[in-house]
Amino acid sequence: MEYSKDEIERVLISNEEIQKRLDELAARVNADYAGHDLLVVCILKGAVAVFADLLRRLTIPCSIDFMAISSYGSSTKSSGVVRILKDLDHGIEGKDVLIVEDIVDSGMSMSYLKDNLRTRGPASLKLLTLLDKPERRRVELQADYIGFTIPDEFVVGYGLDYAEHYRNLPDVCILSPKMYA
Ligand code: PRP
Repeated sequence: MEYSKDEIERVLISNEEIQKRLDELAARVNADYAGHDLLVVCILKGAVAVFADLLRRLTIPCSIDFMAISSYGSSTKSSGVVRILKDLDHGIEGKDVLIVEDIVDSGMSMSYLKDNLRTRGPASLKLLTLLDKPERRRVELQADYIGFTIPDEFVVGYGLDYAEHYRNLPDVCILSPKMYA
């Protein structure tokens, strides 16, 4: 896809590469959870694209739920305090839960969320993230399934936003610095 140079510096990961990688990740998930009934949890909003594409590759019995979280304002993102904007519809006690995220950056959001969900007594709790930015990590947090490890660039597209825009782009792209300078 052609993007405006003023907005998008370049494509970092094409949709084709994403789909290929999701084939591999889904095959692992299907094998790892064989004989289980999986609850797949989408973390709104960034994970919608990867969640929908992963879900359609799952062959194991599964159900889905959604959660929306946000840090307490961007200035206090470093505090690690996370607000639950929308909680799961149902309890997860005794369930095998797979969290699906678009990106793990500082790791604060997922560290908080995993601690929170663990107190609800799931049988197992794992994390799949499309993107991992280990350079930015501020807490120890390791995802169980990682799509791509990426450098510390401002990425948008395939669910990821800048000021709520660009989530619709099919590829993961590097935003032009002009946009936020
Ligand atoms: C993004 C992303 C993760 C989090 C990662 O969400 O979806 O949830 O930030 O950052 P961290 O590892 O530093 O905590 P965001 O708050 O931008 O919301 P969104 O998914 O609705 O875009």
